[in-house]
Amino acid sequence: MPALYHFIQDLPKADLHVHLEGTIEPEMLFLLAERNKVKIPYGNEEELRKAYHFEHLVDFLTVYYQGTRVIQQSEDFYDITRAYLRKAAEENTIHADIFIDPQTHLDKGITLEMILEGVLPAAAEAQAQYGITTGLILCFLRHRPLSESLTILSEIGPLKAHFAAVGLAAKELGYPPKNFVKLYEMADKMGLKKTAHAGEEGPAFYIQEAIEFLHVDRIDHGNSILDDPQLVETVKNTQIPLTMCPLSNLHLNVIQNVTEHPIDRLLKRGLKVTINSDDPSYFGGYMNANLKVVAETFNWGEKELLTVTQNAFDVAYVNPDRRIRMNEILRNFSQSRT
Ligand code: ADE
Ligand code: ZN
Repeated sequence: MPALYHFIQDLPKADLHVHLEGTIEPEMLFLLAERNKVKIPYGNEEELRKAYHFEHLVDFLTVYYQGTRVIQQSEDFYDITRAYLRKAAEENTIHADIFIDPQTHLDKGITLEMILEGVLPAAAEAQAQYGITTGLILCFLRHRPLSESLTILSEIGPLKAHFAAVGLAAKELGYPPKNFVKLYEMADKMGLKKTAHAGEEGPAFYIQEAIEFLHVDRIDHGNSILDDPQLVETVKNTQIPLTMCPLSNLHLNVIQNVTEHPIDRLLKRGLKVTINSDDPSYFGGYMNANLKVVAETFNWGEKELLTVTQNAFDVAYVNPDRRIRMNEILRNFSQSRT
């Protein structure tokens, strides 16, 4: 194994853009389907994996939402979270900010309480066992009515304490960030952080809108930013981070080849870019695979990998003590290399 692969494995990492529902490996999907007596249109794991060929985002979302049907009870959330955090910890990911889509589960009669009843103990146990920490992002679906998200957020009550931020995901084209100004105003008043998927398939002005109207502190993806040089300057000057997901972009045909990915150009221009996994069970890999493909494509060495990792540690949804500790871990790792 090349030395850089060892470096990537040993590097303490943070995944800031991972959807819990996108971490269900085929094996888990079948296990939950059987447990909950949910019929799925695939005979075995092999057949299911074959279905993981997507033309674009909407294509993928159909398969992804179909996959979420197998989740029916708190125990399922526990198992999914536990499995993901184990895998992440095996790769030396020491923190993960995880998106959860409440609307997807409310449709099945699963409440936020039920979701958290599974997720929180799994996160606490993983922290105790591996030292990995988690931040939760309440992720709203942009193709659904604003009123739905406003109701969920306004009725969240004490459960708010378990979430670091709100997010906005799903079908992007035709659903501009501007539609969700009221939601982000509410989140801001509640003291939540704010992130939004923008410029994945959508144009650069969606990124601009997310910054100008939603006042986000992070942009998820942001691939189309290079189409607007003025916006590149703004994002560089403000150091608003981009949580980019190269393997996701490749699998959803946002790019045809990793050489087209803007991350290398953006890093060289001084933007605060990070590398993340998005939906790792669907896109062929977790953090290591994403870091590897970018490093190989752009001839990155330890310096670039440390920079994107430090960027992630700088903006992870963690408390100040945890950030100090994460930085210490990274510093120790980096010093042990010299
Ligand atoms: N939900 C899960 N993965 C997503 C992605 N890549 N883009 C938008 N919404 C998503
Ligand atoms: Zn995403």
